[in-house]
Amino acid sequence: MRKRYQIYKCNVCGNIVEVEVGSDGDLVCCGEDMQLMEEKTADKTTEKHVPMIEKTADGYTVTVGSTLHPMEEKHYIQWIELHAGDAVYRQFLNPGDQPVAHFCVKADNVWAREYCNVHGLWKG
Ligand SMILES: [Fe+2]
Repeated sequence: MRKRYQIYKCNVCGNIVEVEVGSDGDLVCCGEDMQLMEEKTADKTTEKHVPMIEKTADGYTVTVGSTLHPMEEKHYIQWIELHAGDAVYRQFLNPGDQPVAHFCVKADNVWAREYCNVHGLWKG
């Protein structure tokens, strides 16, 4: 059963999709089942991937990594999301940007995740 917000990747062409309404159907791309990207939560090596949430005067700032994640052409954070109840806010990033996103969101319970194009999906 697919669930809302799950991320699937095609290991052939690199397509990435997010589930908005889940069902039992298979997600297929390039003739193969797409791979579920598991949300990793602990980066035992350098702590460059776990998103860190900081409350600000008008919302939240999410920074990727206690040590800032690289933002190079071949290795960078592609997006940062802030989840607040049934709402999700997403900032897409490009190489050369800071691995940081600001969200003007009034909510008490939030969590964040990010996607590294090399190391996958991370939740914090
Ligand atoms: Fe990475």
